[in-house]
Amino acid sequence: MFISFEGIDFAGKTTQLEKLRAWFEERGENVETLREPGGTALGERIRELLLSAAHEDMTESAELFLFSAARAQLTRAKIEPALRDGRVVLIDRYYDSTTAYQGYGRGLPLDEIEILNRAATGGTNPDLTFILDLDFDASRRRQAERDDGATDRIESADRDFFERVRNGYLTIADDEPDRARVIDATGSIETIHEIVVRETERRYAERKNS
Ligand code: TYD
Repeated sequence: MFISFEGIDFAGKTTQLEKLRAWFEERGENVETLREPGGTALGERIRELLLSAAHEDMTESAELFLFSAARAQLTRAKIEPALRDGRVVLIDRYYDSTTAYQGYGRGLPLDEIEILNRAATGGTNPDLTFILDLDFDASRRRQAERDDGATDRIESADRDFFERVRNGYLTIADDEPDRARVIDATGSIETIHEIVVRETERRYAERKNS
């Protein structure tokens, strides 16, 4: 089973991913958890390039190709082998982040992004995607509560950008209701976890029976 977590920054993806990992492990599953961009040595180097404030002049298409390159490496080197071994793969962001941030956020053509996403993943798609939905103000409030308060190159974009990203995620969920589930990220950690588990159980049972 392959499950991705999506949403704007500070929506709580990482917390939910870790809780779902524990849930699968209690059921005796072998779980691989990954993040994007990153998850491989090459991907972590690409992540540094992408997030560094030193690359303020990075063009939008260079950004798109770098995210896609990191994804191609991660998919071939980690995701596909893990799925072949029968492991559960949980990932913090996957190609929907590119559709939402580079497509809806930056305004790059969605048809080109779709082609690039398919090329990078080779058609390895999540069985289930959780989109943790949070508005810009709530995201910024959570950021301010964090000690460092530091923003990376992408997080320093303006409100309009994040509103386009958020609406992009909601459009993705409308387009693919079988795969993508939107969850209100203002709920408690436990409430969100219960929704994630309920949905996962349903899909997990379907797969075990098929
Ligand atoms: P993330 O790892 O979620 O950031 P952090 O660990 O700082 O919370 O993602 C890094 C940033 O990259 C985030 O702002 C979203 C952005 N991003 C894209 O713009 N496109 C993509 O395809 C991916 C995977 C991430």
